[in-house]
Amino acid sequence: MKFFIDTANLAEIQEAQDFGVLDGVTTNPSLMAKEGISGKNNVLRHYKAICDIVDGDVSAEVIATDFEGMIREGEELADLDDKIVVKIPMIKDGIKAIKYFSEKGIKTNCTLIFSAGQALLAAKAGATYVSPFIGRLDDIGYDGIDLIEQIRTIFDNYGFDTEILAASIRNPLHIIKCAEVGSDVMTGPLSAILALLKHPLTENGLKQFLDDHAKANG
Ligand code: E4P
Repeated sequence: MKFFIDTANLAEIQEAQDFGVLDGVTTNPSLMAKEGISGKNNVLRHYKAICDIVDGDVSAEVIATDFEGMIREGEELADLDDKIVVKIPMIKDGIKAIKYFSEKGIKTNCTLIFSAGQALLAAKAGATYVSPFIGRLDDIGYDGIDLIEQIRTIFDNYGFDTEILAASIRNPLHIIKCAEVGSDVMTGPLSAILALLKHPLTENGLKQFLDDHAKANG
């Protein structure tokens, strides 16, 4: 399973890249706003800075919600760097835009997926990735992992190349469950990725090894 980091924070992206397990980055308008990035030129410059750090796909989201606007913004984003994946919302014009970009060989990520039917539509339009938001489903009492499993079955039944990019990851258990049910990618915060390192028996065991070594070696 590929690991993407879900942030627009350059220091966190650099830390994840240096950690050695990073396959890509996802951003969204809220994450860009959180970093205080505003204005078209600053936004484009920031996406380019992300591309310069990471080896892998970088999802950059359009703001327009009409077909022409999404094409205009998406082409501008795609021109920035080969790593850019144009992130498009799951709406009717979004599906048309995904079809348009897929025919032009531009990668897309269909965002805000909350049902298997939405994922199927995006795959049929030729999306490179679909992003089911599992944490937000969990928040309202649905099991986000069930949705990943359902989409996995549908994509496998028909041999869709579209990759399942499990989004809205909140914790290490989400990552493990996504891997169990065969998600192609997960995108989450650095904290959830680093939490995979943790186990009390590892910490205690290492402490014991180092204490015993110190005793034996004076
Ligand atoms: C996906 O690409 C989104 O950026 C993201 O995962 C949303 O996560 P949130 O529900 O934590 O905002």
